[in-house]
Amino acid sequence: MATRHFLTLLDLSPEELHYLIQRAITIKNRLRAQGPTYSPFTHRTLAMIFEKSSTRTRVSFETAMAQFGGHALFLSARDTQLGRGEPIEDTARVLSEMVDIVMIRTFSHAGLETFATASSVPVINALTDDYHPCQLLADVMTWTELRGSVRGRTAVWIGDGNNMCHSWINAARQFDFQLRICCPEGYEPRRDIMDAGGSRITLLRDPNEAVVDADLVTTDVWASMGQEGEQGKREADFAGFQVTEAMLDRAKSDVLFLHCLPAHRGEEISETLLDDPRAAVWQEAGNRLHAQKALIEFLLLGRVDH
Ligand code: CP
Ligand code: NVA
Repeated sequence: MATRHFLTLLDLSPEELHYLIQRAITIKNRLRAQGPTYSPFTHRTLAMIFEKSSTRTRVSFETAMAQFGGHALFLSARDTQLGRGEPIEDTARVLSEMVDIVMIRTFSHAGLETFATASSVPVINALTDDYHPCQLLADVMTWTELRGSVRGRTAVWIGDGNNMCHSWINAARQFDFQLRICCPEGYEPRRDIMDAGGSRITLLRDPNEAVVDADLVTTDVWASMGQEGEQGKREADFAGFQVTEAMLDRAKSDVLFLHCLPAHRGEEISETLLDDPRAAVWQEAGNRLHAQKALIEFLLLGRVDH
C-alpha cells in the first residue's frame, strides 16, 4: 500500500478526519482516566525537522511519542546537513532507512512535497508558509468537544489570509461548515484555495459585520514567521481588525474564540480576550497532543478501535 502523508487536510477523506477527531477525544479521555498506560509506538521513532521556531508543536509531538512508548528526535536545520545544502530528497531517503515517521516545519510547501515524494515513511506537515493542518485537527477537536458537531455551523476568520486561514478553508471543505473570511485589501487567502471551498467560503471586509451570529471566531498574528520585516506595515494595514470582547458580543451567545497561539495581545486580539470565558485557547493548545497522537497512530497503524 502506498505511504500515506499528511501535508494538508485534503490528504485524508472527510470520513477519515471525523474518525481522527473522535479517536483523539477517546485518547484524551483514556489518558485522563488511566494515565499514560497505552504504548502503541514502542520502539518507533519520529524525526522532527524544524526550520522555524516552535513551542506547542515541538512539545506536543515529543510528548505524544514519549507517552505512547516511542521516541522523537529534534532536528534543527541549522544543526543537520540540510542546513548545509544536502538535497531534500537525499535527506528523505536517509531518514526513511532509519525512522518510522517524519514531521517537518519549514517555509516552502513545495519543499515539503518534494520531501514526501522521496520518503517511504509517512510525512506530517507541522507548518509551512501555506498550511498548518495539525493545528486544525486540534481546533476542530476543541470545537467538537465544546459544541458538538461542527457541520453546518459558521466560523469567522479575521485577519491575514495566511497558512492558518488556508487550513481553515480546507477544514470548512472537509468538515462541511461555513467560513467567513474577513481581511484587509491585499491580505486575502490564495484565490485557488478559496475558490476550491466554493459556496462555503465568503469574503468580507468589515469585522463587526463578519462576526454577526457566528458560532466560532478565530484569528492569528498579523506577521507570520518569516514576515518579521513587514511588522510595522502590517500593524498599519490591519488597523480595525483587532478581535475584541465587544466583537464577540455580536456573535451567538455561545460563540467560541480560538487562536493557534502564540498571540500578540494588543495587536490581533485585545489585551484581555484570552481571559474571556468564550476563549478556549488553552484547551485548544492542549489538544495538539491528543490530535497528533491520533494522527500518528493512524499513519503508522491504521484505524484502531480500542
Ligand atoms: N500553534 C503552533 O503551532 O504553535 P508553535 O509555533 O509554538 O508550535
Ligand atoms: N501564521 C503563524 C502561525 C504560527 C503557529 C506563522 O506561520 O507564524
